Amino acid sequence: MSVGIDIENVVKKYGSHTVINGLSLRIEPGEFFTLLGPSGCGKTTLLRMIIGFNSVEGGDIRVGGRRINDVPPSRRNMGMVFQNYAVFPHMSVRENVAFGLKMRHVPEAEAARRVDDILRMVKIEEYADRMPAALSGGQQQRVALARAIVIQPEVLLMDEPLSNLDAKLRVEMRNAIKRIQRQVAITTVYVTHDQEEALAVSDRIAVMDGGVIQQVDTPRNIYQRPANVFVSSFIGLSNLLEATVFEEGGQKGVAFPNGYRVPMTNLSEEAKSGLPVAVSARPEEFIMEASARRPSLRTPEGRAAFGGSAVSEQSAGRFVEAPDAPGEGIPAVVQSSVFLGLTTHYFVRAENGQELEVIQQEQAALADGERVLLRLRPEKINVFHGASRTTLIRGEPE
Ligand SMILES: Nc1ncnc2c1ncn2[C@@H]1O[C@H](COP(=O)(O)OP(=O)(O)O)[C@@H](O)[C@H]1O
Ligand SMILES: [Mg+2]
Repeated sequence: MSVGIDIENVVKKYGSHTVINGLSLRIEPGEFFTLLGPSGCGKTTLLRMIIGFNSVEGGDIRVGGRRINDVPPSRRNMGMVFQNYAVFPHMSVRENVAFGLKMRHVPEAEAARRVDDILRMVKIEEYADRMPAALSGGQQQRVALARAIVIQPEVLLMDEPLSNLDAKLRVEMRNAIKRIQRQVAITTVYVTHDQEEALAVSDRIAVMDGGVIQQVDTPRNIYQRPANVFVSSFIGLSNLLEATVFEEGGQKGVAFPNGYRVPMTNLSEEAKSGLPVAVSARPEEFIMEASARRPSLRTPEGRAAFGGSAVSEQSAGRFVEAPDAPGEGIPAVVQSSVFLGLTTHYFVRAENGQELEVIQQEQAALADGERVLLRLRPEKINVFHGASRTTLIRGEPE
């Protein structure tokens, strides 16, 4: 039976320094739950409070309904995987994994069977008799994971378990960890500063900053509907644009300084007409088109056709007149681009000088220096209060 974890108003102080000041969380039974945040935000501190390596200066931690604040770590029935593997160097893989069972006086035959099962699950059975020094980092981390779960803990805790692995192995191991967690269905609290890793493995994510939870939600909601500007910027790439709320004849939306308006249907009550806001757009959420072309101004043949004299050398290759009516979008100029096969990343500069990143799937290449018009997808963008930096998007109706 999987257990839930209730963290209620917990406080952590190191001496007189308060690192966590009244944090609450509910982790569901069997859930893969991730604490995500920048270095120093308090992830390890919170994890160590759950396992019992850290004292708790206020509030309660309950596992399966039982308050565990004062229960010693050895009696909490939790498994932990650390960043630096922490396997016993003088024991073989099999001995490492069997160690916890030996400590718990599990009969030898049963222990051997359980160790074999787990070694197979984490796919290191062929290395069972090797010493850790003869294993790669990824294999050592599999041993550490096997050792943590073989004791059938109620809770599995992992603190940046993939940080010491190279990029390719990290992806492979995170898939393995997710598969194994599903298989054993142990309530899991996973710590990482890597947002992509968090999105890939988690049922839910708590985004932390400065010891404070910013948002708890599914990976999809964290990415698509960030609660505030911090989450929006920390997860994935966000372009932040200044705008104001408009309201006209019952229609709300956001208006940009050049008159471009994006009507929206999901702005909250708090979004009053004239309110300064920050609009957040993911690079892939722009619609980018070359500005209406005046080919006669661009090519040598065109110049000739236009009469030659109308275009100076300096303006060759550029657009001389603003080709779009004001307010149709955000005018910008392509600075550079990176072709990545499936997508192309464009770095563009908006009229106000702001640098924006735009990702497009269409293969029609836009040249450096080309003028473009950016439009926003109203259902995709996020809008934050200009001062409080919190979302002004209404929650989805249930
Ligand atoms: N043993 C300790 N003594 C004093 N301060 C600590 C100790 N451990 C962590 N801290 C401080 O607590 C804050 C959170 O640290 P930590 O939980 O390790 O962050 P994270 O794991 O998110 O990188 C940091 O400011 C860190 O310097
Ligand atoms: Mg840490």
